[in-house]
Amino acid sequence: MPYQVTLQPGGKAFSVDEGEAVLQAAHRQGIQLSHDCRSGSCGTCRARLVSGRVHYPQGPPLAITALEMQQAEILLCRAVPLNDIALDVREITAVAELVVKTLPCRIVRMERLAHDVEALYLKLPAVERLSFLPGQYIDVLLADGHRRSFSLANPPHDDSLLELHVRHVPGGRFTTEVFEKLHEGALLHIQGPLGTFFLREDTARPILMIAGGAGFAPFKAMLRHVFEQGPQRQVEFYWGARARRDLYAGWLVKKWLASHPGFKYVPVLSEPLPSDHWSGRTGFVHAAVLADHADLSGHDIYMSGPPPMITAAQGTFPAHGAAQSRMFSDTFYYAPEVRAALERGGA
Ligand code: FES
Repeated sequence: MPYQVTLQPGGKAFSVDEGEAVLQAAHRQGIQLSHDCRSGSCGTCRARLVSGRVHYPQGPPLAITALEMQQAEILLCRAVPLNDIALDVREITAVAELVVKTLPCRIVRMERLAHDVEALYLKLPAVERLSFLPGQYIDVLLADGHRRSFSLANPPHDDSLLELHVRHVPGGRFTTEVFEKLHEGALLHIQGPLGTFFLREDTARPILMIAGGAGFAPFKAMLRHVFEQGPQRQVEFYWGARARRDLYAGWLVKKWLASHPGFKYVPVLSEPLPSDHWSGRTGFVHAAVLADHADLSGHDIYMSGPPPMITAAQGTFPAHGAAQSRMFSDTFYYAPEVRAALERGGA
């Protein structure tokens, strides 16, 4: 029997099927709630349970403590209602106004951006458009029913082709296919736009963007969007990678640097190769941000990259004044089999 979920304040309600997680039910019915990993590990989907009961059939999620659960906090991506519930949580309305579509598309161009990153340029059917916000992602729907998520690297004002940056993950079925089998002209099915990682434009606060590796893709969309709007907001872009070859679009960012006076770019390498002859910043990218910003209270902070980078930033930035409500993250989410390969040391 379905249960009812009511959002407070506002009173908007939707149904959730038996055994279904709250976030999934909301998503199915076009209600956008803040989320990132969808696996219980980032804490972005946290909400307060005002009434009713939930449980976690897959076990307690990593990102919530027993004390927080006692204090009626829940993680929407894993919590399954046991009766009608009311939640104190804010619906993201800008995203809710967009239509999520499932569409066929053709790969019209492929471009190797780095040794392990391939750009796919996708063309939609002539009568179709995809409205999205800069930073959002789409899912590629696979024949076996699985799906893989990729950020859109093109901004909304340049949507004749959708641009994805696919990093080859050893053990990843789809990314291996991209590198070994897919070809220009191939047909894919996609669904989108998805996600709540997008540029907030209702403020003039300066922006800090922090990318790890292929986490550059949504920032390419956001930065091109910001530059298109004009020079109203100050933007600093930190890009962390292992070696120089992983800063696969450094030339493009430097080009932007030359033509946008308010823009600042800080590349940071954690393991530069001797052949890199690197004289720039080294170490972890979140540490470089902290070294440059003793006080983060005035900034909107956007982060896209692997889980350790996001976790380190989320764990340290609040002590430097960063407001939880002004930190937005897009964690790389791996399918279970890919995660297992990575944990075995495949990456
Ligand atoms: Fe729910 Fe990450 S913990 S989206």
